[in-house]
Amino acid sequence: MRLGSFVCLLNFALLGSAALAEDPIRFIAGTKLWILDTNNSSYVFGVNEKNQLQHVYWGKRLWRDADLSAVHSFNEWASFDGPATTTPGEYAGWGSNMYTEACLKITRQDGDRDLVLRYVSHEIHGDALHVLTKDINDDILVNLYYRVYPASGVIEKHAVIENKMSQAITVESAQSGTWYMPPGSGYRLTYLNGRWAGETQLVREEVHPGVKILESRRGTTSHQTNPWFAIDAPAEKNGRVWFGALGWSGSWKFSVEQTPHQQVRLTGGYNTFDFAYPLQPGEKLETPPFYGGFSDAGFGEASRILHRFTREFILPGGLSAKPRPVLYNSWEATEFHVDDPGQRALAEKAARIGVERFVMDDGWFGARNNDHAGLGDWFVNPKKFPNGLKPLIDYVNSLGMDFGIWVEPEMVNPDSDLYRKHPDWAMNFPGRPRTEARNQLVLNMARDDVKEYTFGWLDKLVSENNIAFLKWDMNRNFSEPGWTEAGAANEKKLWVKYVGNLYEIIDRLRAKHPKLEIESCSGGGGRVDLGILKRMDEAWTSDNTEAFDRLRIQEGFSYAYPAQVMMAWVTDVPNFNGRSTPLSYRFLVAMMGSLGIGNNLNKWTNEDFALATKMIAYYKTIRGTVQQGKLYRLFSPREGDLTANQYVSEDGKQSVLFAFLRSQQYGRPAPTIRLEGLDERAVYRIQPLDGRKLAEKLETVSGAFLQNHGLNLRLTGDYDSTSVLLERVQ
Ligand code: GLA
Repeated sequence: MRLGSFVCLLNFALLGSAALAEDPIRFIAGTKLWILDTNNSSYVFGVNEKNQLQHVYWGKRLWRDADLSAVHSFNEWASFDGPATTTPGEYAGWGSNMYTEACLKITRQDGDRDLVLRYVSHEIHGDALHVLTKDINDDILVNLYYRVYPASGVIEKHAVIENKMSQAITVESAQSGTWYMPPGSGYRLTYLNGRWAGETQLVREEVHPGVKILESRRGTTSHQTNPWFAIDAPAEKNGRVWFGALGWSGSWKFSVEQTPHQQVRLTGGYNTFDFAYPLQPGEKLETPPFYGGFSDAGFGEASRILHRFTREFILPGGLSAKPRPVLYNSWEATEFHVDDPGQRALAEKAARIGVERFVMDDGWFGARNNDHAGLGDWFVNPKKFPNGLKPLIDYVNSLGMDFGIWVEPEMVNPDSDLYRKHPDWAMNFPGRPRTEARNQLVLNMARDDVKEYTFGWLDKLVSENNIAFLKWDMNRNFSEPGWTEAGAANEKKLWVKYVGNLYEIIDRLRAKHPKLEIESCSGGGGRVDLGILKRMDEAWTSDNTEAFDRLRIQEGFSYAYPAQVMMAWVTDVPNFNGRSTPLSYRFLVAMMGSLGIGNNLNKWTNEDFALATKMIAYYKTIRGTVQQGKLYRLFSPREGDLTANQYVSEDGKQSVLFAFLRSQQYGRPAPTIRLEGLDERAVYRIQPLDGRKLAEKLETVSGAFLQNHGLNLRLTGDYDSTSVLLERVQ
C-alpha cells in the first residue's frame, strides 16, 4: 500500500497541537475528532474505539473544541439492532449486521460480500482533508475527501474506492456520503419534483420513520427529481436548514432515513438501480461530489449560501464571470423552419431591441425538417444555408450580437446517415427492440469511439464558425442501456462511463475554445445539477415558457440554483395552458433570471417593440443585481395570489423588487410588501417602473421603513405586475 504519504496514527499528537483554532479543518488528537468549520457551520466526525469513522455533529458553528468528547460506538438495541445499525457511521461499508443505507456495497470475485471499514490514516492540507479507510481484512481502500469552503458555508465530500486486492471486486453501491441531521424527529424534507414542462416544483413534507427515495434511474439528472435537498427543523425562533446538492448528471439516488433510533440521515450518490461496477486489481471508482451546507436563518439564507457557492466554485467563470447577455432564440418563432433569410429577419429585429446574443435553434443541419430525421448528421443543410453558416453569422455579428447555435450531440434519429452507418453506436441490447422517444435513440457516449466522433464534429463546428455559444440539448432519457463491446461483466459501467465521457467532451471543447459558452438543456430543465454546471454556463429552465406557470418553476429552481444560470424567455401568447398574460408581465417574470426573448418578432407591433426596448434597457441596469446578488423570496406563488421576489446587490447599493398579482378580488387591496436584506439605517431612492404610483408617495425612504412598514405597490386586476428599483443614496 502507498501509505507513506499519509499522516499515520502516530502523528496525531503533532497535528492536533499544531493546529490553530482558525484552521478550517482541525484534527484533535486527544479525542480523535476532525472538526470542519465554515463561517457559519461545523461538521464533526471522529474515530471510535473500534477504529471506525463515526459522525458526531453537523449544524451551527461551534467554537470550543473542548466541548466535544471522543466518540464511542452506540449500544445494541436488543439482539435486533446491533451497533452497526445504531451507530452513525461516517462512511459505512455494508457488512456485519448493518441495516441502514450503506455508503458502499461490494461483492468479491469469490462471492464474499462483507465489508467493514476501519480508519488507517489522514492528511490535512488547508481546506482539504483526506481520510483513508480500509477493510478489516482485505486491501479494499476507501479514500474519503472533504473540502471546506469556509466563506461560502459549504462542505464537499466524495469517495474514491480502490481495489488493491489480487482478485476483482464488483461495486454494487457507491455513495458520495451520508449527511446526518442532529438526532430527533419533526424534521421536514423539501425537494424539487416535476415533469417535462413542469420542472422544479417545490415539495415539502414531514420526515417519517422509514426510508424515502429520491432518484433518477433515467441515465441523466431528470425533470422528475433534482439532486438537491433541504431538511429543516421548523422552530419558533429559528429555522435550521440542512441542505445539499450532488454534482452528477447521470442516475443518482438520495435515501432519506429516519431510523428507529431517531437518526435522520441522507445518503446520496450513484443510483444503485442496475448498478454494477467491476474493479479489477488496481482499479478505482470515484463518486460524485456531494455539497452540503447549513443555515439557521431559514430557506432564504440556505439558497443564498448555495447561490454564492455555485457562482464562486462551480460555474466556469467563477465570480469574475460577466452577467449573462440578453439572448434571442428562434425556437418558438420558427421551430424547425430555419433558413438564412428567415434568421436574418429575426436577427435584425432582435438587435433593434437590445439583444446581445442571437441563437439559432433546431433545424439547421442534415435532413432536419421535423423531429423524425437528421439528428446525428451535423453538417449544414445546403438548402437552408446554401453558403454555409458564415454569411448569417457575419450578419449577426455586424448587428453587434454574437452567435449561438443548437446542438443535440448525444442523440441520433434512425433516419440519419450516422445511424445507417453506425447502428451499433446507439444504446441497445442486440436483438431486442430499440425504444424510440421523439423518434430518436441515445448514442452510447460510454464508447470511446462515439466520444471521439462527437468531440470531433463539435470541435470542427466551433473551429470553422464564429460560434460563441452552444445550446446543448438532450431530448430523451436512456432505454435498453446495452453496451455489448464492454463485455457482459462490464456493461453496467455504462451508467457512470457515459457521464464521464460526456464531461470529458465538454471539458476538452472548452479547453480548446476558451471563449465558448454552453447552455445545458434537456427538453427544458432535465439536466440541471452541479456536475453539468461545472462545465456549462447556464441552464434552460423549462420548455414551459408560460409566465404564470414559470413563477412556480422558477421559484423551485431558485431554491437550488442561482438566477444567473436560470434562462428565462419572453414568448408569445397564448402559450402553454392557453393562458395570455400581458407582455410586460412576461418580461418581468423572465427578468428574474437570465433574460431571453423567444417571440416571433415578425408579428410584433410597434408598441411591442417599444415596450421590449424599454424593458431590456431596464434589465441591463439591474441584471448584475438579479443574477449575482442576493435573492429574497418575499411572497410565494404556492401560497397566494401575490408573488414577490427581491434582489440585493452584493455591495448593498442596489436592490430590485418584482411583484406579480394573479387576480384581485374586487376592492381587496394587495398586501403590503416588506423588503429584506437592506440596511435599516440607510436611505434608498425608490423608482417604480413606469412611474407607477405607490401608496407611499415617497421618493426616498429608509431601510427601516422598507423592512418594517413595507411598500404597497397597488397591484390591481388580473396579471398585474411591476418592479421597483431601489438605490442607496446615504
Ligand atoms: C427541446 C428544447 C427546446 C428546443 C427543442 C428543439 O425541446 O428544450 O428549447 O430547443 O428541443 O428541438
